[in-house]
Amino acid sequence: MDLFDVVVIGAGAAGMMCAIEAGKRGRSVLVVDHAAKPGEKIRISGGGRCNFTNLNAAPQNFISRNPSFCISALRRYTQRDFIALVERYGIAYHEKTLGQLFCDGSSLQIINLLVSEMNGYGVELRLSTSVEKVEKTSDGFQIQLSQGLVQCRSLVVATGGKSIPKMGATGFGYDLAARFGLKLTETRPALVPLTLEPTMLERLKPLAGVAVDAVAACGKTRFSEAMLFTHRGLSGPSILQISSYWREGSEIVISMLPEVDVFEKLRASRSQNGRQALQTALAAFLPKRLAQLIGEAEPGPHNLADYSDKHLRRISEAVNQWRFKPAGSEGYRTAEVTLGGVDTRELDSRTMEAKAVPGLYFVGEVVDVTGWLGGYNFQWAWSSGWSAGQAV
Ligand code: FDA
Repeated sequence: MDLFDVVVIGAGAAGMMCAIEAGKRGRSVLVVDHAAKPGEKIRISGGGRCNFTNLNAAPQNFISRNPSFCISALRRYTQRDFIALVERYGIAYHEKTLGQLFCDGSSLQIINLLVSEMNGYGVELRLSTSVEKVEKTSDGFQIQLSQGLVQCRSLVVATGGKSIPKMGATGFGYDLAARFGLKLTETRPALVPLTLEPTMLERLKPLAGVAVDAVAACGKTRFSEAMLFTHRGLSGPSILQISSYWREGSEIVISMLPEVDVFEKLRASRSQNGRQALQTALAAFLPKRLAQLIGEAEPGPHNLADYSDKHLRRISEAVNQWRFKPAGSEGYRTAEVTLGGVDTRELDSRTMEAKAVPGLYFVGEVVDVTGWLGGYNFQWAWSSGWSAGQAV
């Protein structure tokens, strides 16, 4: 049987960061993953360029039943710390928008950085290795792997969430937590495209591929970013963001062109060029296909001059205040993250150790801390992994 100070299950962002820090502290560390390569989600992230952190990352960008839980880890290992590491490796990066930092080249550079750090600190990485059984011993854990038995003092669960099952995402971390008697909060797909009722979808089908600036709001939460019509419903950053706050049956309000007072624009067009068609007037500030569809949905006189204020108001509301109830979401198949997870009340916010099970740690997405779109989820993986790495 092999003995290690620390076994980390999951060679993703959080697991590798934890392993590096533990290795740095002289711990013998084994990282196991059932995938054939480490950091597969890092590889596909940010369209292949990995949005590895956000300049503005702060606790208010994270969703959790306990919003204060993330404060300690985010303070102890900040976005500046990770940026310094990226710079030390000479990886070129840029800010795309809203503080989001991406590699200029490829997300593989981030994976190589992490693997190189692990190698440097003597961390052993066993890939294509599954975990068959985990048992608590008097002073640690005994783990039956597909390739033998190992023992450790500290066990770190870094198996991520359920999103993209095709890539090997499992509910392993949640099941393990439950087996050790830890509470879980409800898990659901987040940062996910929303779907529409069949009749509305049929009507909006011609818009697939059209993008507009929008504010998407659900209750008091709102995000101002692009929105994309798709052949299944709605996507784009503003929709992905609001999906983390939306619940079945509730309404979403979309303000397309939030900077434009469409009613005033249409009134001005009516007085300046009353002989044009409504669609033509709308197409001056909306994508043509969208203008066309709104015009068709609001049948009226041929000339703009013949539209009443009331009618123009209704049309402008379809643009500036479109209210609808999504049918659902595309689910874990396309969700970027899983909302919910191991209840933070079960964990020490400084170390990520389970309060009731000494030596058992949970880091990254498996914990009930979910970031907004824009590099926040990786920052949580780095910060929580780093924090556990100081304690194991
Ligand atoms: P992660 O999922 O990265 O790693 C878990 C590891 O555990 C995996 O390697 C998996 O194989 C392994 N594992 C799971 N079950 C196991 C088992 N039973 N036995 C052994 N191993 C097991 N975030 C962001 O900040 N910026 C971005 O640009 C993006 N982009 C993005 C794109 C797409 C398409 C997705 C799906 C997600 C993103 N994200 C993102 C989110 C980000 O990828 C995610 O939050 C982090 O990868 C979470 O890191 P973890 O280490 O917690 O889990």
